[in-house]
Amino acid sequence: MSSEDRPSVEWARLEYLEDGTPFAPRYGDVYCSRSGRGQAAEVFVEGNRVAERCVAARSFAILETGLGLGLNLSATVDALATVGRSEPLRLRYAAIELHPVHPEDLARIQRDAPFAPSFLEAYPALVRDGRATLKIEENLQVDLELVLGDGAAALARLQGPFDALYLDGFAPARNQGMWNLQVYRELARLSAPGATLATYSAASAVREGLTEVGFRVRRLAGFARKRHRIVGQRQA
Ligand SMILES: C[S@@+](CC[C@H](N)C(=O)[O-])C[C@H]1O[C@@H](n2cnc3c(N)ncnc32)[C@H](O)[C@@H]1O
Repeated sequence: MSSEDRPSVEWARLEYLEDGTPFAPRYGDVYCSRSGRGQAAEVFVEGNRVAERCVAARSFAILETGLGLGLNLSATVDALATVGRSEPLRLRYAAIELHPVHPEDLARIQRDAPFAPSFLEAYPALVRDGRATLKIEENLQVDLELVLGDGAAALARLQGPFDALYLDGFAPARNQGMWNLQVYRELARLSAPGATLATYSAASAVREGLTEVGFRVRRLAGFARKRHRIVGQRQA
């Protein structure tokens, strides 16, 4: 059975704004800012200092809430492929997703990413089986995991520890399933001591919820039109 036949997969519906930004009518929100790749690199990858933490690491684990278009994944792999690393790195990249993006939409969005061919080839199996491995280069392997499901219930099916968290649901006011105390509790459970987090949002309810479950959070200047964003660290 192909992934498209699977009754349990309800594909995302995508529309595009006039400037080409992908939009989710189900949530009334965009998938990313106009510069999706710029946001991914600055907010999520740099916000968690992923490249510098991986310079001498042999393994590293990232957890993302909302795989979506895979822009954050692409930006992460780009950053790791270009930074000079002293050791072969095995990256675990796990994500949850309620409505996976259809492979044809993904191909349109990802076509310019340096590792698009291997990601697009692996994606149907990732959606179908929940796992896929990308051999990016001799000393960089990415073990992908995708849990299809809703917010906290999907996170409950994962085991940590994770070193860095990318919190990337749609805007909190429109996507409460991704931004609630049960989700934050699961994130805390899945985090290694000292794990970092980053998100484009600076909503006070998000800051308070993350603080309540044991993250120390702070606001940074936001990306593009956002005034602020949040980074944080799990208290040991
Ligand atoms: C802003 S987009 C993520 C963009 C993505 N991180 C990227 O790099 O392209 C938010 C994603 O969260 C997913 N999502 C929304 N509500 C969810 C829920 N309750 N549980 C799991 N995933 C959800 C959406 O389907 C969407 O793909």
